[in-house]
Amino acid sequence: MKKLLLGTAAVALMSASATVANAQSVEVLHWWTAGGEAAALDVLRQDLESQGISWQDMPIAGGGGSDAMTVLRARVTGGNPPTAVQMLGFDILDWAAEGALGNLDDIASEQGWDEVVPEALQAFSKYDGHWIAAPVNVHSTNWVWINNDALEAAGGELPESWEDLIALLDNFREQGIIPIGHGGQDWQDATIFDAVVLSMGTDFYQSTMIDLDLDALRSDTMVEVFDRMETLRGYVDDNFSGRDWNIASAMVITGEAGMQFMGDWAKGEFLAAGLVPGEDFQCIRYPGTQGSVTFNADQFAMFNVDAAQVEAQHAMAASILSPEFQVAFNTVKGSAPARTDIDDSAFDACGQKAIADLAEASANGTLLGSMAHGHANPASVKNAMYDVITGHFNGEYTSEEAAEELSLAVESAM
Ligand code: GAL
Repeated sequence: MKKLLLGTAAVALMSASATVANAQSVEVLHWWTAGGEAAALDVLRQDLESQGISWQDMPIAGGGGSDAMTVLRARVTGGNPPTAVQMLGFDILDWAAEGALGNLDDIASEQGWDEVVPEALQAFSKYDGHWIAAPVNVHSTNWVWINNDALEAAGGELPESWEDLIALLDNFREQGIIPIGHGGQDWQDATIFDAVVLSMGTDFYQSTMIDLDLDALRSDTMVEVFDRMETLRGYVDDNFSGRDWNIASAMVITGEAGMQFMGDWAKGEFLAAGLVPGEDFQCIRYPGTQGSVTFNADQFAMFNVDAAQVEAQHAMAASILSPEFQVAFNTVKGSAPARTDIDDSAFDACGQKAIADLAEASANGTLLGSMAHGHANPASVKNAMYDVITGHFNGEYTSEEAAEELSLAVESAM
């Protein structure tokens, strides 16, 4: 009996201290495990720790976040959601529709989020008029990262059109440089696909990737998109299958490869390696997409957690949207701020271009959600597209078959 009482007391004590610990801690699920990503995340961790909030890290490696989303599903099904979860676009709305997310309206109104967060992001940070996620950044996917020495060796001209691009890729090859550093994973193939579709025009991107017009999906223009994907596939090295995106970035950083098509989180890797934009590498929009942007914004979706954890959760949301954090984090991560009122002077040349391009695209109606990163359609449609894009990239379909398959796959996923 005595033993039992002691045991009960110990449990009571433990749960009391757990409550205190919970009140001051956040558990954060994310996929920011590459060098530049981890450095950026550290800015947030340190910010919270300086407020006395401890950080329980829950990293699930895998660019694009599919693996993280699988783990999240298991955690929520098990009745134990993390405090905050890195999340993209339609996934946030899906979780909100399930009633799994908390409400950030109080902090949002205290900090005036409605006035400063771009509307394109608010579409995913709010559900039913309520704030449910804290936007961290705006990335975009239609970038090309080019090693400067490789570029000089190959004639020094930055490509502005498809023809220029092919000429440069050929030139890289002649110099013994792997033309394209790429990792053969579905979301990376899809990231290139975003840019190639966009290069056919914003109307075509809108009708295929966002409006899911089945005729446009199987059109001759889509066949041409797949033809171009096949052409690009001819410039990657033999070992590309399964390679992580940051390893592909490293190939460009060292000059083993000439260029990488990747979102601007790649810049985080270049910076972490000590490279300087303009001097050591170039950032340009994918040829033919100048003036348009396919964006993806990382947000922290805030789950319904115990009352004891809500205070720390809200402190985290408030930190994320503070102007100081937006500068400190995004200058490291490679992204643009999730607020429109941030001075760009602390950003490097690529960051300033990202901020200016976003503002311009937003004003001109050429700012479009990235299909590859969950901002064009829900995961069911995205995954259906991934299968066809990757299948074609690996030679499973001809371009004509791929366009037809894409239309069929989307139709059954809709
Ligand atoms: C994206 C995410 C970026 C970056 C990238 C690679 O989906 O938005 O922040 O982390 O994956 O991991």
